Amino acid sequence: MKGLLLSGGRGTRLRPLTHTSAKQLVPVANKPVLFYGIEALRGAGLTDIGIIVGDTHEEIEAACGDGSRFDVKLTYIRQAEPLGLAHAVLTAREFLDNDEFVMYLGDNLIINGIKELVDQFREERPNSMVLLARVPNPEQFGVAELEDGKVVNLVEKPAEPKSDLALVGVYMFDKNILQAADSIKPSPRGELEITDAIQWLVDNDFRVNPHIVSGWWKDTGKLEDMLEANRMILATLEAKTHGSIDEGTRLEDRVVIEEGAVITNSTIRGPAIIGRNTRIEDSYVGPFTSIYHDCHVRSSEVEHSIILEESRILDVGRRIEDSLIGKNVTISRTQIRPKALRFMLGDNSAVGIT
Ligand code: G1P
Repeated sequence: MKGLLLSGGRGTRLRPLTHTSAKQLVPVANKPVLFYGIEALRGAGLTDIGIIVGDTHEEIEAACGDGSRFDVKLTYIRQAEPLGLAHAVLTAREFLDNDEFVMYLGDNLIINGIKELVDQFREERPNSMVLLARVPNPEQFGVAELEDGKVVNLVEKPAEPKSDLALVGVYMFDKNILQAADSIKPSPRGELEITDAIQWLVDNDFRVNPHIVSGWWKDTGKLEDMLEANRMILATLEAKTHGSIDEGTRLEDRVVIEEGAVITNSTIRGPAIIGRNTRIEDSYVGPFTSIYHDCHVRSSEVEHSIILEESRILDVGRRIEDSLIGKNVTISRTQIRPKALRFMLGDNSAVGIT
């Protein structure tokens, strides 16, 4: 059995970060989302993993390498255009070589991994197994309708959902999904939808078993979801201090300080993680905050936020909250008159001023 990890797509809902980088590499608790997917596949015993990549392939390859650091073998498969999840399956035809496989969307996070689900698929041997989760906003997902515990109908982002069961971004298939993907037509958004391919399996009397996931799952495509994922993962970390902390600093609750980080005269209230070689001076870092490597926070307050690498938060007089701040960003207070807010923001940025 193989793993197929999807890491193409344009990440439009996370712009402007995704103008310059892959959404699957945005860190949650200081680890790229995609790495959780590789680890979940590895945890289920799958070591032969194909990664579908698109425009951001160089960055993904640089981050994941040949897979040896995860103890897996990675094969990169280039999808020229993001034409849908079923199109991605067709692109991987040669790699899949008629084997059974788990398809895992690279921006999805499932706490507790997928081992039990993969074991169940191996035992029951249906043609496909779909994971479903109850959500308050099913119209934003593929939605499944069940009857007597069987999947009868699947619709991609229906305006009027027939149930609250969303398709989670982890699917198990045997080779018949290739014929299904070959047989369907593009959806109104111009994509070959995996949802339609699974419906084709249902319509053609293949066995599609549903499994309702009870644990926590998140599609990290949007800001609020990233922050929620960050909260969930941080809550599972254990306190560790590898960097240096001076006497004027207080660490409260579970705080992870990575190698080379230097904290002076500050309060860090966990759960929080401070990345490699990051400096925090005269500041407060509040719960549910992840600050990535090589950042500098000085005389500022940050809470419930994710800050990417090499960014600087300097002398900001107000608390920064509920924020996702990209790479190499500077937010600082200056003495220049007249007093004004001065920005240099990328396309599709969002700034809230109160
Ligand atoms: C995709 C699938 C959708 C599924 C979702 C899970 O949506 O098309 O059926 O519910 O992933 O994350 P997309 O992220 O492409 O909008």
